[in-house]
Amino acid sequence: MIAIGSDHGGFELKEEIMEHLKKRKIEYKDFGTYTKESCDYPVYTKKVAEAVLSKECELGILICGTGIGVSIAANKIKGIRAALCHDCFSAEATKSHNDANILTMGARVVGPGLALKIVDTFLDTPFSDDERHIRRIKLLDD
Ligand code: RB5
Repeated sequence: MIAIGSDHGGFELKEEIMEHLKKRKIEYKDFGTYTKESCDYPVYTKKVAEAVLSKECELGILICGTGIGVSIAANKIKGIRAALCHDCFSAEATKSHNDANILTMGARVVGPGLALKIVDTFLDTPFSDDERHIRRIKLLDD
């Protein structure tokens, strides 16, 4: 189960990503926002982060205008490793090396075509399970 959320800046891209997940038969839960009306990205970030931390969802996707606001908000929450990715190399590396549990993107930065490829890369790349990466991830929470 994938937790997904956005503010108004990411609303349309969130819709496209959900459509894409549906086509791939990947289950998701939409934590809002549910309209294009102006809203506050930390609110939706917290909902997605809580779903990931509680293990209700295994991974999260957060979208805002730049991807930066949701990324800052998510990374303030202990246990969250949110990665702002606007290219597939970063999406693959952060899953493999950082075991990132939330992908963030900016709808005003990437087009939907690239965004969907980034989502696929993030979801389809496993954590390397490499000892050095496990050690470094543990140090993040110390
Ligand atoms: C909203 O206008 C915009 O500030 C927001 O979507 C996001 O980019 C914040 O980081």
